[in-house]
Amino acid sequence: MPTKLSVNINKFATLRNSRGSNNPDVVKAAQDAERFGADGITVHPRPDQRHIRYGDVWELKKIVTTEFNIEGNPHPEFIKLVLQVKPDQVTLVPDSEHALTSDEGWDTITHASFLKDTIAQFKEHHIRVSIFCNADERMVEGAKATGTDRIELYTGPYAQLYPSNKNEAIKNYIIAANLATQMELGTNAGHDLDLYNLEFFKKEIPNLLEVSIGHALICDSIYYGFENTIQMYKRKLSSII
Ligand code: PXP
Repeated sequence: MPTKLSVNINKFATLRNSRGSNNPDVVKAAQDAERFGADGITVHPRPDQRHIRYGDVWELKKIVTTEFNIEGNPHPEFIKLVLQVKPDQVTLVPDSEHALTSDEGWDTITHASFLKDTIAQFKEHHIRVSIFCNADERMVEGAKATGTDRIELYTGPYAQLYPSNKNEAIKNYIIAANLATQMELGTNAGHDLDLYNLEFFKKEIPNLLEVSIGHALICDSIYYGFENTIQMYKRKLSSII
């Protein structure tokens, strides 16, 4: 099964915002990413708009021709933005406002009713929904009950353990992904995936629909160039099958 590479372009906005001009241009970054082989573009607008701004999301909606994925914590402003912009997919993430980055999946049991109500709003507008989820069977079961279409497995713990014990690192992800498939939930994955740990993840999780990658891919682009780097990531996803 082919796995889509969605390139998270937030880091372009971080760099742009550091100088106050429009360099680099996030719209051009998205167009180039697609030209270089990305299967999708991901953005993560945060309430303080310190990376991607709400205005960027509107501009990107006009030009993204692959799959547009907006991720974030579903506070009222975020929900309003997503319902108006209507991306192909929204990924709901329980990140706190000032968190450096997302660092855990939803507790799909404690937040079941909130998630169910929120997801229903997106589905009414025909927006595919994915929710960020730890590789934990109980959380995957809970996700199913919310009505989400997909889960995005939080791969931070996988990436952390991978260098010392890759088989142990992947164990819970295989169980979680198989359970998701059995329950007819699609499986995405993201966070801390890179050129070293991606190939093994893809090999072990054959039903993986999409990975969303930002930080490592942009860091690699500094050394290898954006086009070359996107192709390197694509090869990691396709060399196995
Ligand atoms: N998925 C989600 C839900 C995220 O919040 C992030 C980080 O913005 C990513 C994937 C991408 O993580 P990374 O930048 O480590 O590739």
